[in-house]
Amino acid sequence: MQIPQNVASELRRLAEHGTLNAYLYDTAPMRARIAHLAGIMPEGVEVFYAMKANPHAAFLSAAMQAGARGIEIASLGEAEKAVAAGFSAQQLIYTGPGKSVEELSWCVQKGIRSIHIESLTEAHRLHAICKAAGRTQDVLLRINADFDIHEAQTTFSGGSKKFGVDEEKLGDILPQILALDSLHFRGLHVYAASGVLNVADLLKNCELVFGMARSIETAYPGVLCDIIDFGGGFGVDYLEEGHDFNPQGYAHGLARLIAEYGFAGRTFFLELGRYLAADSGWFCTEILDIKDSRGKKQVICAGGINHFRRPAALAINHPLAVLRMERAPLFEGQEAVHRESVYFGGPLCTGADKLANDVYVEAADVGDIAVFGLAGAYGLSMSNIEFLSHERPQEIVLD
Ligand SMILES: Cc1ncc(COP(=O)(O)O)c(C=O)c1O
Repeated sequence: MQIPQNVASELRRLAEHGTLNAYLYDTAPMRARIAHLAGIMPEGVEVFYAMKANPHAAFLSAAMQAGARGIEIASLGEAEKAVAAGFSAQQLIYTGPGKSVEELSWCVQKGIRSIHIESLTEAHRLHAICKAAGRTQDVLLRINADFDIHEAQTTFSGGSKKFGVDEEKLGDILPQILALDSLHFRGLHVYAASGVLNVADLLKNCELVFGMARSIETAYPGVLCDIIDFGGGFGVDYLEEGHDFNPQGYAHGLARLIAEYGFAGRTFFLELGRYLAADSGWFCTEILDIKDSRGKKQVICAGGINHFRRPAALAINHPLAVLRMERAPLFEGQEAVHRESVYFGGPLCTGADKLANDVYVEAADVGDIAVFGLAGAYGLSMSNIEFLSHERPQEIVLD
């Protein structure tokens, strides 16, 4: 990985002001990705930003400036941040299991675009709230399809899952949801997996959902799945193997499926997090110590899984580069890294505090800055921020 010029020069400036531990954000790549998708996707596709990837105001404002259709929220906290960033209630869609009465009531009161029902209990809870408020609410039904995507980093459907209702139970559950007269059934939500690089796998998911929509419409005359939500899932190349996701291939494949199934005129949601946000952020943390432990170098940084948990949580190395700071050693014989594979960890008192393992580094000294790329998505937002009560990393927006 190359450290971009604007990131490197900001890091050199910051390093003059104490121990460096920060996320640096430049949302230009995110804006370009959203604009590109808007230009290539078939008619009817609406791109939402899944703000769980990064709820920082700069990312929300990038989504707005670049023309994202809206925001996919998964909590009341996210809803409030999206509204504060200027999104209207009609630009919000709400997904995720375990929605509380307070969260659903807020959505109904504000009149958000759609709520994606994850179970029969949730449908009844929402129906009761709508009845009490004298309102109806557009809903999608989330399905746990009997299908999984083998190579994905995280799968959301197939097997026993907490997401949605099992596909084979649809015949029992759907009529019960259709009978709840304050819920306006608009269609299906099937999110198969996250971090998928193979377009064919995601298109297989689209085809499967189209098949489901068709069977429902055949079985229940008058019922239309006029919105179909494919969730997120577009991957990024963490391993730097040159396997970038091909959005153009996806767009062509989806257009072909829409034509094949006669689904032109319908609406298709994409709720993308990682693909939009990942390459707009870097986690940058100062190397505080380097030790040789039984033949392997242990590189200890100012921030660990409290600030950047994803590499440990998903057992994956992010792209890494070391910004050399040319600091004088504290004593003669101080350890350094020289052309070897090493371990990077943080300052926490747990062996799980891993930033990267078996990662080859040309050279690193104490005082240099470890820069982890593709950290714009699921960086700080999925970290153990309270663990050991270290100061929060700074979040610095470059653009
Ligand atoms: C319901 C839902 N939509 C969208 C996303 C975003 O997924 P991704 O970052 O893979 O695009 C997630 C991620 O967990 C999700 O749970």
